[in-house]
Amino acid sequence: MARVAVTGSSGKLGRAVVPHLLEHGWDVVALDRVPSPRSDVASSVVELTDFGQAVEAMGGIDDRHAGVDALVHLAAIPAPGLAPNAATFANNMTGSYNVYAAALRAGVRKIVWASSETVLGLPFDEPPPYVPVDEEYPPRPTSTYSLVKTLEEELARQLCRWHPDLSMTGLRFSNVMDPEDYAQFPGYDDEPSLRRFNLWGYIDARDGAQAVRRALAHESVGADVFIIANADTVMTRSNEELLAAEFPGVPLARSLSPHETLLSIDKARRVLGYEPEHSWRDEPRESVPPASPPGR
Ligand SMILES: NC(=O)c1ccc[n+]([C@@H]2O[C@H](COP(=O)([O-])OP(=O)(O)OC[C@H]3O[C@@H](n4cnc5c(N)ncnc54)[C@H](O)[C@@H]3O)[C@@H](O)[C@H]2O)c1
Repeated sequence: MARVAVTGSSGKLGRAVVPHLLEHGWDVVALDRVPSPRSDVASSVVELTDFGQAVEAMGGIDDRHAGVDALVHLAAIPAPGLAPNAATFANNMTGSYNVYAAALRAGVRKIVWASSETVLGLPFDEPPPYVPVDEEYPPRPTSTYSLVKTLEEELARQLCRWHPDLSMTGLRFSNVMDPEDYAQFPGYDDEPSLRRFNLWGYIDARDGAQAVRRALAHESVGADVFIIANADTVMTRSNEELLAAEFPGVPLARSLSPHETLLSIDKARRVLGYEPEHSWRDEPRESVPPASPPGR
């Protein structure tokens, strides 16, 4: 059984990724500075901004594990504004460098990490070049959080240049949702500008976990990035109506169905075999006032 270390395993996405990988036969080592909520996996409390801790976490810790075959790196402060920008930069950039350098020292050559939809230009004060947005135009970070995600994508490209046998796959997740978050979705229809910032996209944490699993299974070397979103928008209003109101003049790259995601998952479908299995439309829910979940 292959063993994978998951950083950020106690977080919103990590809590979905860990059980999903376990169900699909991975031996999981859960790493986070917050203790793991699970007792059925090897886990350690690790501060990734401390390089020594990162080295031990990747190489082996006592009876917890004796090394891993792959790394899923999710640990980060997950949105702009949650901490002062310099603290976000210091935590996210240093943590990523440390865990990658430690993984490489330990012989790991398969890395999947959480990038972010923000590199696409959120909150789109400058409109997107076209819709659906895809991976074909250069990153347009507008916050320090997103700047780090952009730098991490470049870090991956350079590390893969140094190590021709290394595979690093960045997943540009949309806004992560748990099923209980869907209660607020019907409220978004009343105010389309509320979710304009990410083109009305979202990612169900369970589908996010599927994307991680497929990226781990994808046989490749080098660095690559994929937008990971659900197949539909958060709205019952049509794309035609939303785009006319909020992004007039932005060209359509191709025809769109009324509720199709405007964050293209075509590349993830084609290359990784990713196919979202969940939609907020299928979940039982009652309407509550909308609020923006903090992650991006
Ligand atoms: N939540 C979203 O909407 C969203 C959207 C796009 C991308 N992402 C990215 O996905 C990843 C997971 O996000 P999430 O929503 O699960 O966030 P989260 O805050 O729920 O979980 C992140 C976890 O990382 C841990 N962590 C942070 N810094 C650490 C450090 N220095 N050392 C050890 N552990 C550390 C935290 O303790 C936390 O448990 C992040 O990289 C985030 O940037 C999130």
